[in-house]
Amino acid sequence: MPRIVAPFFPGVRWCAKSALIQDTPVVRAEGAQGVGAAGSADGAPPALMTHARRGPFWSSRWGSFGRSWNVILKTPRLILDGWKSSDWTAFRPIAQDVEVMRYITGGTPWSEEQIRGFVDRQVKLYAERGFCRWRLVEESSGEPIGFCGVGFWRDGLEPEIGWWLARRFWGRGLATEAARCALQDAFERVRLERVISVAAVDNLASLRVMEKLGLKLECEFEGEGMRLVRYAIERDRYAAGGGIRP
Ligand SMILES: CC(C)(COP(=O)(O)OP(=O)(O)OC[C@H]1O[C@@H](n2cnc3c(N)ncnc32)[C@H](O)[C@@H]1OP(=O)(O)O)[C@@H](O)C(=O)NCCC(=O)NCCS
Repeated sequence: MPRIVAPFFPGVRWCAKSALIQDTPVVRAEGAQGVGAAGSADGAPPALMTHARRGPFWSSRWGSFGRSWNVILKTPRLILDGWKSSDWTAFRPIAQDVEVMRYITGGTPWSEEQIRGFVDRQVKLYAERGFCRWRLVEESSGEPIGFCGVGFWRDGLEPEIGWWLARRFWGRGLATEAARCALQDAFERVRLERVISVAAVDNLASLRVMEKLGLKLECEFEGEGMRLVRYAIERDRYAAGGGIRP
């Protein structure tokens, strides 16, 4: 199970290099401003935490950085990073690949406006909440290969995890690798209570990723002119499965 190992704090540079070990996702969090915002009533600088800290302490301290995030997650092969508005051009070939879009729009490529809108929503979500549908970068090449992470499905209020990869990266376990890391972050750092995932009922690769993450089928419904399914997992169940260590 991947572990979050390296919270970084303003002016604290501990375990910068040693944290970047290959089988461990890394969370780097710098809150240069925002001390004294939500979760830190006295406005005092945060205490230095060791990476082993978990639970409410983690949550409240992290919350005290609310306005300035610098979080990067890492897996053996991938970096899960935030977006800049200009990243939309690198994402364009993926969102305009008819095979990638097959179970999303029925194969219709996204327009440039939709792609820009998606990227801008991630920039905003990350700025406001400290998470997003992370921009996926293959570590060995530095190439952006898609996204994976938690956002909001349509106008829904429930956090939803999703993934799109460039076609040539399919079938290597990368979506699962990224999603495990993003889900861990969503529960352990962001402290979400529940995460859903929505897919076309015949998107078998995506459903398999959900199952491998431990999500359970909740319902089938009609939407976007397709038959869709919703899977979900609660933090308690995730923790009971060994995802969250005491
Ligand atoms: C869905 C997607 C992200 C999966 O990426 P990936 O890196 O190939 O996924 P993984 O390799 O981690 O896992 C895929 C699993 O599905 C299985 N799978 C793939 N195609 C399958 C199919 N047609 N039928 C059944 N299982 C299938 C794989 O065997 C694997 O399971 P396993 O590890 O038990 O063997 C990728 O196909 C994609 O980007 N699709 C287009 C965008 C999309 O539809 N996103 C989901 C929107 S809900």
